[in-house]
Amino acid sequence: MTAAAAPMADDGAGACRHLAIIMDGNGRWAKARRLPRIAGHREGVEAVRRVVEAAPGLGIEVLTLYAFSSENWKRPAEEVGDLMGLLKHYVQHEIDNLHRNNVRLDFIGDWRALKPDLVEQLERARERTAGNQGLRLVMALNYGGQAELARAARSLAEDVVAGRMAVDGITPAALEARLDTASLPLPDAVLRTSGELRLSNFLLWQSAYAEFLVTQTLWPDFDGPALAAALAEFSRRERRFGGR
Ligand code: IPE
Ligand code: IPE
Ligand code: MG
Repeated sequence: MTAAAAPMADDGAGACRHLAIIMDGNGRWAKARRLPRIAGHREGVEAVRRVVEAAPGLGIEVLTLYAFSSENWKRPAEEVGDLMGLLKHYVQHEIDNLHRNNVRLDFIGDWRALKPDLVEQLERARERTAGNQGLRLVMALNYGGQAELARAARSLAEDVVAGRMAVDGITPAALEARLDTASLPLPDAVLRTSGELRLSNFLLWQSAYAEFLVTQTLWPDFDGPALAAALAEFSRRERRFGGR
């Protein structure tokens, strides 16, 4: 697809370069079919495939997907195990395809605290695709916005205590540079599926001026046309950033 096919909106919100998605509704999708929750998560992986494939053609440069929150450990051990298994399976089976499609895979959150074999696999996938210039696919794993902000604050405090930085150096820009997302543009939009109207600890700092998009569609039903519709909605928004 050419750039001209992307929803350009010079009068409106501009391009959505970075879209962040709260992939929600897998459990309800399964429940509606009297299936176990894992069936919903499995279909959710298919939705990830569809969206990753459609995103570049719609002008998206960075796609951040909330895959596992730091609060999702509260779920039953069996479900947590299923989610980790699916993540492993996805990376294992999709990495060749992602690499071929020039996708650069990266992670945010405390993902290095996951099981060592999984961390090793994620690290390998990250290194292998590090030079790719296409879509930046960022998976938020064991991610919580509050924990991320606390880590950034700690890192600033360490520099101050060590005399590397003055207290006056603690500015929004300095804090932002220590977030997991430091190398990424800020999200232009945060999309949540399944109709819930909350951030659930996702990109708290980064979403300050992101457009919030909500669709009733459950994540396992999400696809390219649904993504295009969400971006069309984005392009009708007027972003002001506090100006007039
Ligand atoms: C999103 O679907 C997947 C994750 C949080 C990992 P849910 O599992 O939250 O589905 P619902 O909200 O119960 O429908
Ligand atoms: C947010 O969804 C986390 C992910 C999508 C990974 P949840 O389903 O965990 O959020 P709450 O509990 O409904 O707020
Ligand atoms: Mg949910």
